[in-house]
Amino acid sequence: MTTIFHLSDLHFGPKFNTHLSELVLADTRAAKPDLTILSGDFTMRGRVSEYEQAQAYVAQLPTPVLTIPGNHDQPLHLSGLAERLTNPWRRYKQYIRSEVDTSLEIPGVFVVGVNSNNRIVPGGIWSNKQRAFIEREFSRARADACKIFVTHHHLEWNGKYRPFGTWFPTGQLEWLERLGVELVLNGHTHVPLTLRTAQGIVIAQAGTSMSGRVRHGHGNAYNQITIQPRALTVRIMGYDAGSDRFVERSAQSFPRRVPTQISVPGAAA
Ligand SMILES: [Fe+2]
Ligand SMILES: [Fe+2]
Repeated sequence: MTTIFHLSDLHFGPKFNTHLSELVLADTRAAKPDLTILSGDFTMRGRVSEYEQAQAYVAQLPTPVLTIPGNHDQPLHLSGLAERLTNPWRRYKQYIRSEVDTSLEIPGVFVVGVNSNNRIVPGGIWSNKQRAFIEREFSRARADACKIFVTHHHLEWNGKYRPFGTWFPTGQLEWLERLGVELVLNGHTHVPLTLRTAQGIVIAQAGTSMSGRVRHGHGNAYNQITIQPRALTVRIMGYDAGSDRFVERSAQSFPRRVPTQISVPGAAA
């Protein structure tokens, strides 16, 4: 069994909750997950001071850690605007991870994560170059690996929460399904959510684990995911003020996809 902790939207800066961050850190270290994934928005405005705190926090998480940036990780303050336009991910690369598109393999699991943000228009966009990267990376996965895709913006967009998710999500989900993706992890909405799409892909959306910027009546939360040969399970762990700890709010299990031969145009045989 593989265990993954999925945290998102830490948002170091205003409204950051240090106490919650310590609880999450203690949970994560105690569980010793096989992998920790953070799906973007490490900072509030992309300030250096926020990045310094985020870097120190991420360094305490059990490894391996996979990260992708969020829209709030580009400078969004007066003195950082020029950098946002010319080199928006310099600080992310300096403090969090040297690349914005990434992949990682552990036994039984292959993860690809991409930067879905844009410096000007709302994010939820992948370039042709990124699509080639996603295809190429997943083509390296073993046939029996659980393929996980990580992006900051949400793909299942029912209009209920916020409009700014991934552009043309149905086509993207169909494409990911053809690549053999079983599980998509995202953040951005600050709303914890688990569902299975019409394409058969499980979506695990993490809430904000330690920011006061909670939305739509949802509290702070993170996800615990377990992957077994025949099932994957997503547990939403929400903060309970009464007991002052994160407790299980929901647990949903889904049967694994039967491995199929994936053919990717242009990929090496
Ligand atoms: Fe966020
Ligand atoms: Fe975001």
